[in-house]
Amino acid sequence: MYLQNSNYKILQNIGSGSGHQVFQVQNISNSQNLALKIEKNSNLGQLEVEIQKLKELSGINGIPQLIDYGKTKDLKSYLITPLLQRNLQDILKESFISLFSTLAIGLSLIEILQQVHKKGILHLDIKPENIMISQPYINVPVDQILTPGFIQLIDFGLSQKLGQKPFLNKVFVGSLRYASRQAHKGNKLGYKDDLESLLYVLVYLRDCKFLITDIFREAALGILKIIIILTIRNKKNRRNKRCYIQYNNSFLKISSIILIVQIVY
Ligand SMILES: Nc1ncnc2c1ncn2[C@@H]1O[C@H](COP(=O)(O)OP(=O)(O)OP(=O)(O)O)[C@@H](O)[C@H]1O
Ligand SMILES: [Mg+2]
Repeated sequence: MYLQNSNYKILQNIGSGSGHQVFQVQNISNSQNLALKIEKNSNLGQLEVEIQKLKELSGINGIPQLIDYGKTKDLKSYLITPLLQRNLQDILKESFISLFSTLAIGLSLIEILQQVHKKGILHLDIKPENIMISQPYINVPVDQILTPGFIQLIDFGLSQKLGQKPFLNKVFVGSLRYASRQAHKGNKLGYKDDLESLLYVLVYLRDCKFLITDIFREAALGILKIIIILTIRNKKNRRNKRCYIQYNNSFLKISSIILIVQIVY
């Protein structure tokens, strides 16, 4: 099957959400495999928002590059991005994500959100289904998870500019399980709301049972290694020091809460 009047051959369905379908496609001119996200019904409007945001976020490691976009004959918007591997929700169904890896995922996402927030954009739908890996496996050394681009934040359909009037005032949009307290109240949202949702996602990833001795050993090793990596990176990032320290503090707060939740469980 081909996307009409385009360069893309549709290979298989690889995902779908509330209003969209995602297909693996092949660029006919160079045989490159890519991902196509297309509206289920025309003129939903969310994909237009996403295209705009992806343009503004272009060049950030960890945000999929917008390769192409347009409308089909029946006026459904579509966009094309690089093909990623799996989302965290699907990974969780099959395998256990170690505390070590969870903290590395958290740190990578804080770094991605820092870049997104610098552009004045809020994601507002942080959830495991919207966090993907660009490689086949999550159980790899932590340095690999921390490599820019390994963790990818997708789905900017609900994102907003900071201070922009909400699409629907006082109406809840997003995912109940990971929404911040302000989002539940339908209040104006800010940078901290993305970080709060990230915390709920990371706690969700840890919601599994294993031996308490393993927890301490794993936690000590994980935090030690990440602190070493942070210290090395901090030296390289002197220019952006104030902003960087702010987000590092968020990471330390978030990892402490995860550890407490883990110990209480
Ligand atoms: N670039 C990609 N490569 C591979 N799979 C992808 C890609 N983009 C999205 N997917 C898959 O498709 C699923 C749905 O994508 P996305 O979240 O963008 O759609 P959505 O309709 O906006 O979802 P929802 O409204 O439920 O949040 C993702 O969870 C993921 O599994
Ligand atoms: Mg989604």
